[in-house]
Amino acid sequence: MTALSINVNKFALIRNARGADMPNLVNISKKCIDYGADGITVHPRPDERHVKYTDLHEIKDLTNDFKKIEFNIEGYPSDDFINRVLDVLPDQVTLVPDPPEALTSSFGWDCEKYQEFLTDVINRFKKNNIRVSIFINPSIKTLSNLEIIKPDRVELYTYDYARNYAVNKTKALASYIEVTEYLRKEFSQISFNAGHDLNLDNLEYLLKNIPTIEEVSIGHALVCDSIDLGLKQTVEKYKKITKK
Ligand code: PXP
Repeated sequence: MTALSINVNKFALIRNARGADMPNLVNISKKCIDYGADGITVHPRPDERHVKYTDLHEIKDLTNDFKKIEFNIEGYPSDDFINRVLDVLPDQVTLVPDPPEALTSSFGWDCEKYQEFLTDVINRFKKNNIRVSIFINPSIKTLSNLEIIKPDRVELYTYDYARNYAVNKTKALASYIEVTEYLRKEFSQISFNAGHDLNLDNLEYLLKNIPTIEEVSIGHALVCDSIDLGLKQTVEKYKKITKK
């Protein structure tokens, strides 16, 4: 089974469009959990165009009400981000190397270039008992120094897989298999998550071929599907795939 963490950023985007509280993000997150989500993910950005920093404690309070539901906060580890995450103490933080103005996360860390920075940041979170995952490209050459950096997990950036899935799904998955095999052999203590552009078409094949993925975080497609199918049916459909 893979945990399904629902990224609620896009619900926040709709809320923010009118400057009021509709939809209420805690209610939506609670519904996601009631319908089967194993966790809630947010990606607050410095301009707060989606999730706002004031949402963080409210969602943490919600997930605290459930024994097995995890809260994951993603983002670039600026000083401000680090302090806010340490104030909220989520179950997991996912470090992403995206610049503040980025539309969405679009590449993983270069572990050689950012070795010192990542090691220091990861230590700060780990000391506070927060599990740390780092966003990575499906490319072994970007993964040097993991024995020094010591993340608990890596999150596989699945944009390339999703983009190439329709053309040739075996080829689309090849670099992901290679990276996960490499991690399993060389760094067996590091487990992996996956996320970005996963949807009802491409999710099953990914999890069938890399069943050791601990968690997927899914936002955009799930929100789009729920316009068509409704939130309950949508979450249930994703959950049916991840719980296999
Ligand atoms: N993982 C990371 C690091 C992300 O930035 C995002 C998007 O915020 C996701 C996963 C989820 O991607 P999607 O919205 O395409 O499902």
